[in-house]
Amino acid sequence: MKHKSIYAIAAMCCLASVQTMAQKTLGEATKGKFLFGTAVNMQQVNGVNAAESAIIASEFSAIVAENDMKPQPIHPAEDRFNWDNADKIVAFAEKNKQTLTGHCLIWHSQVPNWFFVGEDGKPATPEVLKERMRKHIHAVVGRYKGKIKGWDVVNEAFEDNGSYRNSKFYQILGKDFIKYAFQFAHEADPNAELYYNDYNVETPSKCDAIVQLVKELKAAGLRIDAVGSQSHMHMINPTVEAAEASFKKLKAAGVHILITEWDISILPSPYEGANISTNFSYSKEMDPYRDGVPADVQAKWNKRMLDMFNLFLKYDDVIDRVTVWGVTDNGTWLNGFPIRGRMDYPMLFDRNNKRKPIVDQMIKLAKKYKTIKKK
Ligand code: GLA
Repeated sequence: MKHKSIYAIAAMCCLASVQTMAQKTLGEATKGKFLFGTAVNMQQVNGVNAAESAIIASEFSAIVAENDMKPQPIHPAEDRFNWDNADKIVAFAEKNKQTLTGHCLIWHSQVPNWFFVGEDGKPATPEVLKERMRKHIHAVVGRYKGKIKGWDVVNEAFEDNGSYRNSKFYQILGKDFIKYAFQFAHEADPNAELYYNDYNVETPSKCDAIVQLVKELKAAGLRIDAVGSQSHMHMINPTVEAAEASFKKLKAAGVHILITEWDISILPSPYEGANISTNFSYSKEMDPYRDGVPADVQAKWNKRMLDMFNLFLKYDDVIDRVTVWGVTDNGTWLNGFPIRGRMDYPMLFDRNNKRKPIVDQMIKLAKKYKTIKKK
């Protein structure tokens, strides 16, 4: 007995030290709570950017293609697919034992124009567009069946006021284009999770429209597992309260939540949102931190990151994944959006590929939360 308990204690110590060792990254510290992921590009996947490639392999439990699975890059012409990059991303995720999300099947942006033009050069008829959507979704989802956990089936179908975005999909097919997309994705891989993804989900009118969509999809017998809240954030908006209110509404609608493209820009914001068709002109006042971030501003950003992360942890019963949109401050899309040529600092790793101190604080915070068993 005595021996047994000594062994038991030794085993416990060993386990404890393994756990401490095993929780050195956010991917590990959030295990059992949610996946912690990042978006990846080909320089990282091919190892050309070796430093970022190594960070991705060791720090994250999930990845998503920043661009390479979108309609334009993967299906540039009706009779031509580019599978190379997407195949490499699948292999990279497999090698690093990471969960892979597919992003995205139907979106008004980064979509080739051939989708919308009929053989006569006039706008495609509803039948033609629907059939093209079916073929596209079946080909892409079908190819990666069993390798991708879930797909962002439709991206950004709503305006902030809750009305449908007047995209070409909407113009030709009306709001049913969303139902068709979910139907085709489910046909192509019945086991894949299916998501609706958008920015500014914290805006009440937009969130209500998404909840209504979830209800309509469910009422039509279609599968929807989660709503992706992109979570491109600024220093003031959205507030923690607004984000929490959106989580409550989505949870009540019976879907899970994904934080799909998280970043907090430290720069002054010319507007609130992430509509990628909006661009503003450059001025020095809008790019104040070229020589570094003052300590008080950095402290504010740190607090905001922790407050938001704390909220995500609080809702870990329904949040299945938190994905940051990039790895280092060097590579973030926010250096070029919504104003070109600025220097932003929204990522968890700095311009020298060094992990920021905030990561340790986030790991500590994650450890404090008891893991709730997912339903
Ligand atoms: C949207 C898309 C992403 C990406 C960002 C900008 O949020 O969903 O795929 O294009 O814009 O990087």
